[in-house]
Amino acid sequence: MRSDLIELAYLAATALFVLALHWMNDPKTARRAVAAGVAAMSLAVAGTLFSPAIVNWGWIAGAIAVGVAVGVPLSWVPITAVPQRTAVSHAFGGLAAGLVGTAKYYLWLGEGPGDLTPFRMTAIVAEVILGYLTFTGSLMAAAKLQEVRWIPQRPVTYPFQNAVNLGLLAIALGGGVALVLRPSPLHVLFPILIALALAFGVLLVIPIGGADMPTVISLLNSYAGLSAVAMGFVLDNKLLVTAGALDGSSGLILSIIMCRAMNRSFTNVLFGAFGQLQTSAAAGEAKPVKTETPEGAAQVLQMASKVVIVPGYGMAVAQAQHRVAELADQLMKNGVDVRFAIHPVAGRMPGHMNVLLAEAKVPYDRLVEMDDINPEMPQVDVCLVIGANDVVNPAARHDPQSPIGGMPIIDADRAKMCLAIKRSMNPGFAGIDNALYTAERTYMLFGDAKAVLGELIKQLAGGK
Ligand code: TAP
Repeated sequence: MRSDLIELAYLAATALFVLALHWMNDPKTARRAVAAGVAAMSLAVAGTLFSPAIVNWGWIAGAIAVGVAVGVPLSWVPITAVPQRTAVSHAFGGLAAGLVGTAKYYLWLGEGPGDLTPFRMTAIVAEVILGYLTFTGSLMAAAKLQEVRWIPQRPVTYPFQNAVNLGLLAIALGGGVALVLRPSPLHVLFPILIALALAFGVLLVIPIGGADMPTVISLLNSYAGLSAVAMGFVLDNKLLVTAGALDGSSGLILSIIMCRAMNRSFTNVLFGAFGQLQTSAAAGEAKPVKTETPEGAAQVLQMASKVVIVPGYGMAVAQAQHRVAELADQLMKNGVDVRFAIHPVAGRMPGHMNVLLAEAKVPYDRLVEMDDINPEMPQVDVCLVIGANDVVNPAARHDPQSPIGGMPIIDADRAKMCLAIKRSMNPGFAGIDNALYTAERTYMLFGDAKAVLGELIKQLAGGK
């Protein structure tokens, strides 16, 4: 009876995990998705706690206390730090899988070699390699994104790097095969396998620049999922297998979506050493930049009938989402048609702009995806770019040599006029100049996005 109830809880949890992922597809259902995910996880944990296999509650209580002590402060991080926070979570997931695999290996080894069947050993080897490499790889990715001083953000490269990495992986896999074939006599290989996996995680991430970390984090997410699948086989737990498979495949799909949105291949992300600051080809022959005052910009916005706002990473840095929403509201009350153009990789994590604008209660029907807004851009009176750079850089369209060449962009330069808010002429993530800012129809509003928007709101309120 008890095991039937546990199975039922696991089945309901699996269904809720699938629904949660499905509901994540649309901002309108995203909140429901989070609730479904939390319910699924609660059912999974509750079902497991009722398992007859659990005999020692002391260890579990201790682990819960440690989890709460680490998890609660992790939830306090600002939204701009969510990518590295996510990487830290993956690191813990990988470590947990690695430790479970290690414990199971030594327990079964102690009980007699008969328990270490080739199937179980294959699952343990996969779990340990993927788990430990996810652990160190994710910690490196988090440190790079957090700009930890002693970890270089730029790609660290050296001769024969890919050959060294692949060689190391091949040795680890060879050791894994040997352990599957002779798990007991070759037990000295097990700690070596762990050391190789830990080293491989570091070596995999150091040649990748900070710029590509979100894609790498999503890829490490899929490794963590796969190690959970292997853990499910080791522990004979079906829910871990299905939840791990969902996690692994969604991480992989997300990485593919990000690569497509940047027009980059996986190989380019993993081995391309992208993210080094480019030296500006046009240094010394800078084009003149036109600036506008908040008063002038407010007048232009007020006279427009169609305004498209393009938010980017700078809006997140400035935490200007509430001011953006207020400005849009004010303009809409005055009869201006205002919409938000959302680029799939604007910001630093998938859905970054959607999350911020939802927090500021911008109605979902005001958000338009890049492919839908671009055909309309020539009819737009004012395109207001707020802390976005690479996602509106026309070089992506016409310069195949550019690091972002071929990346789909929002055609801000095709609007009748462009107002761009940023603090300086500094480049964005890809480290390259942006001809939009020196274009004929572009006017810059220099300053912190929150402060400039505050000025615009004040002007609009006073001007009416
Ligand atoms: P970026 O190209 O990074 O540009 C952001 C701009 O915001 C900067 O040029 C900066 O200029 C400005 N800024 C920073 N702080 C500001 C503040 N307080 N007030 C006003 N402006 C501020 O951002 P984007 O256009 O959103 O593009 C995202 C980039 O990230 C793309 O290259 C994309 O490929 C990459 N990327 C994204 C993801 C995901 S999933 N989102 C994943 C991987 C890579 P100033 O310093 O002059 O102010």
